[in-house]
Order: sequence, then C-alpha cells, then structure tokens
Amino acid sequence: MAIFSRSGVRLWSLLKKTSRLCYASQHTAVDSSQYVTAGCPEPNGPSLQTSVPGPESQRLIQELDKIQNTGSIQFFVDYAKSQGNYIADVDGNVMLDIFTQIASIPIGYNHPNLLDVMSQPENLSTFINRPALAVFPPKDWVQRLKSALLSVAPPGMHQVQTMACGACSIEHGQKAMFITYQRKKRGGMPPSQEELSSCLSNLKPGCPDLTVLSFSGAFHGRTMGALAVTHSKWIHKLDFPTPDWPMATFPKLKYPLHENERENMEIENRSLDEVRDKIEEYNRRGRPVVGCCIEPIQAEGGDNFASPRFFQELQKICKENEVVLLIDEVQTGCGSTGKFWAHEHFNLPESPDIVAFSKKMLTGGFYYKDDLRPKEAFRIFNTWVGDSSKVLLLEAVINTIKEYNLLDNVKDTGKYLKDGLHEMEKKFPHCVSNVRGLGTFCSVDFPDGLFRDNILNKLRSRGVHAGACGDRSMRFRPTLVFQKHHADIFMDAFEKTLQENQ
Ligand SMILES: Cc1ncc(COP(=O)(O)O)c(C=O)c1O
Repeated sequence: MAIFSRSGVRLWSLLKKTSRLCYASQHTAVDSSQYVTAGCPEPNGPSLQTSVPGPESQRLIQELDKIQNTGSIQFFVDYAKSQGNYIADVDGNVMLDIFTQIASIPIGYNHPNLLDVMSQPENLSTFINRPALAVFPPKDWVQRLKSALLSVAPPGMHQVQTMACGACSIEHGQKAMFITYQRKKRGGMPPSQEELSSCLSNLKPGCPDLTVLSFSGAFHGRTMGALAVTHSKWIHKLDFPTPDWPMATFPKLKYPLHENERENMEIENRSLDEVRDKIEEYNRRGRPVVGCCIEPIQAEGGDNFASPRFFQELQKICKENEVVLLIDEVQTGCGSTGKFWAHEHFNLPESPDIVAFSKKMLTGGFYYKDDLRPKEAFRIFNTWVGDSSKVLLLEAVINTIKEYNLLDNVKDTGKYLKDGLHEMEKKFPHCVSNVRGLGTFCSVDFPDGLFRDNILNKLRSRGVHAGACGDRSMRFRPTLVFQKHHADIFMDAFEKTLQENQ
C-alpha cells in the first residue's frame, strides 16, 4: 500500500494501539453492568469520586492559566474513557452528559462505528494529510460529499460548501448573498475598473452598503460578519465595530402555547411587521437588505421558538423583497429535533436559500440554491475549506442514524423527557417554567440566572452535566443516542435538586 511510508506504518500501528486502548478502557470501565446504546457500550450510570472540578482538573487549570485565560473551563476531560452518553473527567468522575460539547456530539463518545472509521487502513491518509480542499481535493472527495453531505441535503438543495466552523459557514453564506446580489445588479456585465480599485480601499462602489437583517437574541457566531447578525449577549459584542445592519425583534412566545395562541400570533405578527418595516427603511436609506439570517430555534439566546406560520410568513416576505433567507442550523441540525433539519418542522413551501450547519455535523458548511453559486473561483475560499476527515466521520454518523433509526429515538425520548419536565413544572411551579422543545432539543426556565446556575452546579454534583442558555434557561443537548433510561437518571437528579432548592 503506497500510503504506508515508514512513518505511516508507525502511525498506523499507533492508531491501532490507540483504538485498542479505547476499547480496552471501555470494557474495564463498564464490564458486567454495561449497557449498549445504539451500538455503543457505556456505563450504567454516573459515578463520582470527587467534586467537579476535582483536584487534577484544578491542577491542570492552574497550569493552563499560565498560558491562556481559563475562565471558561469547567473541567478537564478524559476522552478515551468517555463513552456513549457519559463524559469522564481526569479525576475519575463519570457524568451523564446532556450538554455534549455545546451540542456537538452526535452519536455518543467513542462510538464503535467512528472508531471503525479510524481503524480502516484506507482512511489513514485522510486523517494525516489535511488537504486544501478547494485546490487539491482527494480522489474520493466527490463521492464523500455525495454519500455524506448531499445524502442529507434539504430538498431542492444540490450545492454544498464545506467550512471549518459554524461562524465561518455563516460568514461565507453572507458572502454568497452579496456576490449574487451584485452580479444580478450588474446584469451580467463584469465589474467596472472603479469597483475593482475602490474595493481595495474599503470604498464604494467596490464595497457597497449592503445589509443583512437579523433578530434580537440571535447567535450566529463570533467572526465579524457572523457577529454583525448576533445579538444574544454583550460578552460577544462589546468593543467590536459592527456595521449598521437592521435587526428585528424575535417573537418571545408565551407558554403553554395552547393557552396563549391568540397573543402569540399577535407577538409574531408584530415581529413580521417589523421585518417588513426594516427592509423598507434600509432599502430607502440606500442600504439594501439582501439577506436575512435566522435560527429555526434561537439556541444560545435562550431556546426561543417561533411557530411554523412565522417562518412561512418570513420566507414569503423574503421572496417578495428578493432577500436571501439563510437558516442557521448550526445548533439545530443533524437530528436533535426529531427531524434531520429543524426547519423541516415548518413545512415551508420551498427550501430556504441557504442552510448553514456545523456542530453535530462534525464539519461546518452550508447548502445553497443554484443561483447563489459564485461564477468565479476563489470567491468563497480559504486554505482548508473544511476537513475531509470530518466528512469521513460524518458519513459513519449518518449511517448510524439510519441503522438505529435515531430520529425515531429522538422523537420518543424527546416526548418522554418533555412529559417528565412538565411534571416537574407542576410539582415545582415556583422553580420551573416554560417547558418547551422539539425532539430532545428541550429547555426550561428558572426564576433567574443565579437560581439556574445553582441548579446546574447541584446537578453536576449528582453526576449530570447540563448546560445553560439565555438569561435563565437550562438547555438539553444530549446525543442522538440518549434514551428513556438516561432521561430517568436526569429526572431523578433534577427532582432531588429541586426538592432541596424550592
Ligand atoms: C446557531 C449557531 N450559529 C453559529 C454558531 C457558531 O458556531 P462556531 O462556534 O462553530 O463558530 C453557533 C455556536 O454555538 C450557533 O449555535
């Protein structure tokens, strides 16, 4: 095999050893009382040896702090020992993980189907040699894109661009909007000399005043274009210059939905009116709105939902005004709402114009409609434009989702989880409110952020690692292999914690 140079052989045997080690550690850790969740062995429950972060985590945090800011670090992880729905830390604690690396572990830690990809000799070169994909793609790249990304493309979308992360997927999606708008405006003529020279000095007409509409509470990432459409927390925005782009109010629905239908419809209508007004205002001011970015469920901003009707109307407004609709599925995509893409719940008459993804998809990127495809090379471009090894792993993820009907699992477990949360809401009405969710993409609110943070800490001391979002919400972002018995473990810890804190 040509790929096995001398160093290649060494790496290959190291890899084989590593994956044997992973399996070995799994078996010693779980042994007799082992569950197998969608093909993935895992412990039968959390087990804690120390408080979290434990002494070894704290030592490592101190070490790291000499090199960088460690304020965001919760604990150090032993990834070789983490299995399925359980995350293991360096102090020997094993926790049920319903936050999963900020919503980005699709089928559990160390799933055998992913380890299998790593152990195939023919895949080795993909992991070692990271290609500049837009210039020197590997020989199997077309087939990989088809069998992984295009096999789950939203209907009507046949073009895909890989990217490294969520923010740069949004950022390049925005570029596709601008390029397309200017191309149409030029009516097929090439750019003028003035455009070509002025753009180098950040001046008009080469750098036109085009804008993208977004929503209050939105989170689309931290790079400058993505940040311009992000409005969730000051920590992301403070001190950074951002362009004058329009923002409309995202509807803040009242729960329970069935008791507030009329009011919620009015809230959504006001938001849609604002979208129309902002488009009209910015167009009039010579800052045309060419795109609209929206999450199907606002995640970081506090798990804010809007109705299918809202999204249908929004798409209609975008079409009427020739505004490109970008749906940001970075956090919602890849099955956690019970459909592969969250926007599939909206029954849109046609697909959005751009759908961005990352997190559980393992690679960043975006799908787009044919007319958003740039005509020139190098316009949507960077060195790597993604990572082919992640696409290889994604293929195994998609096959596993199909093999174990994981979307059905998410629907069943999600309903079970939500029913349990409603029970908690009834039992502890002063603590828990606004239960909401699609699939296992669920959340609840607490009276305030301090209360919420205290609950999260207490849950962790009971072996459940959960995450926050918005000002006072707890979000559920488990793997797609999260099942009812995991929900029971969570609910038991949650109930005990609420009893102590009511
Ligand atoms: C909806 C959404 N869009 C974009 C991003 C940015 O992704 P990344 O952190 O990979 O840049 C995130 C990250 O949390 C997100 O939730």
